[in-house]
Amino acid sequence: MKENKFLKEYKNKKILITGGAGCIGSNLVSALARLEVKKIIVLDDLSSSARWNIPEVSNLTFVQGDILNEMLLKELFSEGLDYVFHLAALFANRNSVEHPQKDLMVGGLGTLRILQQAHQFEVKKVVYASSGCSVYGNHAPLPLKEDYKSINLDTPYQITKLLGELYCNFFCNHYSLPVVRLRFFNVYGPGEIPGKYRNVIPNFIYWAMHKQQLPITGTGEETRDFTYVEDIVDGILSGGVVPQAVGEAINLASGKETKIIDLAKSINKALDNKEIIFLEKRKWDNSTRRRASIDKARKILGYNPEVEFFDGLEKTINWIKKNFTKIEENIKF
Ligand SMILES: NC(=O)c1ccc[n+]([C@@H]2O[C@H](COP(=O)([O-])OP(=O)(O)OC[C@H]3O[C@@H](n4cnc5c(N)ncnc54)[C@H](O)[C@@H]3O)[C@@H](O)[C@H]2O)c1
Repeated sequence: MKENKFLKEYKNKKILITGGAGCIGSNLVSALARLEVKKIIVLDDLSSSARWNIPEVSNLTFVQGDILNEMLLKELFSEGLDYVFHLAALFANRNSVEHPQKDLMVGGLGTLRILQQAHQFEVKKVVYASSGCSVYGNHAPLPLKEDYKSINLDTPYQITKLLGELYCNFFCNHYSLPVVRLRFFNVYGPGEIPGKYRNVIPNFIYWAMHKQQLPITGTGEETRDFTYVEDIVDGILSGGVVPQAVGEAINLASGKETKIIDLAKSINKALDNKEIIFLEKRKWDNSTRRRASIDKARKILGYNPEVEFFDGLEKTINWIKKNFTKIEENIKF
């Protein structure tokens, strides 16, 4: 993992990572573990991850709990936090279609409660994990740019991701809370355990390892802007430090499109699998192409995604192979 240029700013700081056991959170913990932070608190209810996914770090406190638990939040925030990385969410679109109330509670009320505590206890910086796959809706011109606004959103998850941003704006404008909104695009990499509600890459790898058909919902010509998790973490760490990022929404992506059919073929080739099956498009999935503009991230954060897609894919396959037994014990399809 490359070292973030602002990493030393986190030295001797107290940091809360909500959702820190998840894909992005566990990689953020690994990156921060390179220097002496005073304390990393991971708050996670393990609803879509596992305890073993959090790297073993000496100055880390793991709290298994819900971001909706106000008493618990008060206790954690009263320690005096420098940084809050708010990553916890009900993941993701399909889960939210099946559980819209839970999605609203976690993504809406949960985010509001985190911001309220951050304001009350004067946290130095809050970084909110937004989603570029959500907030631009399904008709936006490519490349997707931060100033584009849409209310043509397709799922409750997309709606609450935007709602979270709106609350961030309110706290930033009304209370001058230093909040940064980062819009991630199709993150993949080590740390994402395959499962019923997870992303296409870990699930395709898992199914290919089991010599199953890879199901493509659509024609396969659909594209996504797949972004390697270490590049996302690099952007998050910069976002937490750079003063010009406060109050802004900034895309973090690779800026490149990959077709789903090419993804499926590559995974099958790497894992000596053959079959692909085409299924009907999911009713809520109306985004045929996705590619982000990363000009703003480059300009404000000095962001520069480095990991080539097929290198990242190989690392992801290796991680799933290495953790296969634990993954099999954990898997929820
Ligand atoms: N992975 C992506 O492609 C992607 C893209 C855009 C935005 N994001 C956002 O980035 C953040 C992190 O994504 P990820 O891929 O690491 O997801 P993830 O599901 O791996 O991590 C989220 C973590 O939050 C935890 N969690 C869920 N509800 C909770 C609650 N009520 N209280 C405490 N913990 C709870 C889960 O157990 C999980 O460990 C999320 O907010 C997600 O919406 C992710």
